[in-house]
Amino acid sequence: VHWTAEEKSAITSTWSKVNQEQDGADALTRLFIVYPWTQRYFSSFGNLSSASAISSNANVRGHGKKVLGAVGNAVQNMDNVKGTLAKLSREHAVDLHVDPENFKQRLAQMLVIVLAAKLGGAFTPQVQAAWEKFNNVLVAALSHGYH
Ligand code: HEM
Repeated sequence: VHWTAEEKSAITSTWSKVNQEQDGADALTRLFIVYPWTQRYFSSFGNLSSASAISSNANVRGHGKKVLGAVGNAVQNMDNVKGTLAKLSREHAVDLHVDPENFKQRLAQMLVIVLAAKLGGAFTPQVQAAWEKFNNVLVAALSHGYH
């Protein structure tokens, strides 16, 4: 993948405004409410029965922080996202058996919505375009361990 200087700076400058725990919890809360069947992978997390139960669930917050920590790792290593996420990809495929459809249309999309809500007017069409491209790279890297 080739990144232009503008794309790199759009990604890193948005990322500097992210609060990994809060925004991670917000993205997971949206995932669990918009696509409730994704909750089935998280039966150990306790009460996910409503929006308020989800957003105040400590396991969701802790996990949101881990997920965005991995995204942050990819942001720091934009030229080698595949290598950076290789182990995590194997883990989702082999240990967790997560359907990779969930990466693309679901969690990555929730992240864009959380960023848009947070940044408002600063989330310009150009910034969104850079994130959509970044998410494609992220999702491809996470899906790589599935064969
Ligand atoms: C665990 C990242 C998408 C299900 C994890 C962990 C990370 C992570 C960092 C912790 C691994 C560890 O502690 O060793 C990501 C990223 C995603 C993503 C960056 C996409 C942007 C998903 C999706 C699902 C999922 C869409 C299911 C719908 C799980 C499950 C665990 C996990 C079930 C184990 C949770 C636990 O019991 O602690 N993921 N993940 N992940 N992920 Fe993902």
